Amino acid sequence: MSNLHFPEKSIFICDGSKCGKHKEIRKFLKEAIKDNGLKDHVEIVKIECTDRCKHAPILCFQPQNQWLSDTSIWEVEKVFKKLILEE
Ligand code: FES
Repeated sequence: MSNLHFPEKSIFICDGSKCGKHKEIRKFLKEAIKDNGLKDHVEIVKIECTDRCKHAPILCFQPQNQWLSDTSIWEVEKVFKKLILEE
C-alpha cells in the first residue's frame, strides 16, 4: 500500500511574476491552514502564470473551482471561511 496522501481541498495560487508579488496572500493562507489544524487536509499549490496578469493576484479554490481575481486578503479570508471552513 502506498503512503501517498492527497488533500481534500487545494488552493491554487498563481506564482507568476505579477501575482507572485502578492506574498501577503500566500502567507495569510498558510497561517490560516495551520491555525485551523488543516495541514493534512488543505494544500496550497503554486502554479505558473495563468495569463491573467492584469487581474493579479489570481487564486483558485478546489474542488469548488472558485476563481478569484484582483483579490485582496479581505476577500481571500471571506472565501477561505466559506469554502474551506464551512463546506
Ligand atoms: S502572473 Fe498570475 S496570471 Fe500572470
